[in-house]
Amino acid sequence: MVGISGATGIAYGIRVLELARKAEVETHLVVTPAGQRTRAYETDLSARDLAALADVIHRPTDIGAAIASGSFRTDGMIVAPCSIRTLSAIAFAGGDNLLTRAADVTLKERRPLVLLVRETPLTLAHLRAMTAATESGGIVMPPVPAFYLRPGTVEDIVDHTAGRALDLLGIEVPELPRWSGDAARRRLEEDRRDSSAQSA
Ligand SMILES: Cc1cc2nc3c(=O)[nH]c(=O)nc-3n(C[C@H](O)[C@H](O)[C@H](O)COP(=O)(O)O)c2cc1C
Repeated sequence: MVGISGATGIAYGIRVLELARKAEVETHLVVTPAGQRTRAYETDLSARDLAALADVIHRPTDIGAAIASGSFRTDGMIVAPCSIRTLSAIAFAGGDNLLTRAADVTLKERRPLVLLVRETPLTLAHLRAMTAATESGGIVMPPVPAFYLRPGTVEDIVDHTAGRALDLLGIEVPELPRWSGDAARRRLEEDRRDSSAQSA
């Protein structure tokens, strides 16, 4: 299940859907009204284009949809991006729409729930909601770039975060760049060579 809420960064949710499709994983998508607003602000996709990236699209008001029940088997759920409002509803079991209900079901069924919470700076209330979500078994994963991989483009940054979120659901993303000990050693050796060349 993929939830898209109204924080900035809809690109993360889009990429999660694209990578899941590449991995041949069926996706069920819920987009909140605020998520539709950021889609219009941040992309050239229509609501129909976004829906086409998922196998099944659910209306956020449809709290009777299959994904509202724990008897519907899933690998888990990724909320990307996750607004503070959606985080707070999830953290305190407020299933006020299909996204937050499906997230609550994911927690109660002890399945992985990954929340790409996006806000900055953070208030104590935001941090408390993150703590409560974590205490209930959720995984708070703010979309923060890994600069050690030397991303060249915004797409590289989005790909890496979306791939890592799918990793947490046990979904294999073949082309995901991963840090290796070899790369670390090579860079340190290059750095040492440069330093000794400079001091010679
Ligand atoms: C352009 C734009 C960017 C926003 N970015 C954020 C954000 O990064 N984080 C956040 O928590 N809310 C953000 N908001 C506010 C949420 O959209 C708002 O709180 C909304 O009620 C969230 O509803 P939802 O959780 O049901 O999607 C943004 C709103 C707009 C219009």
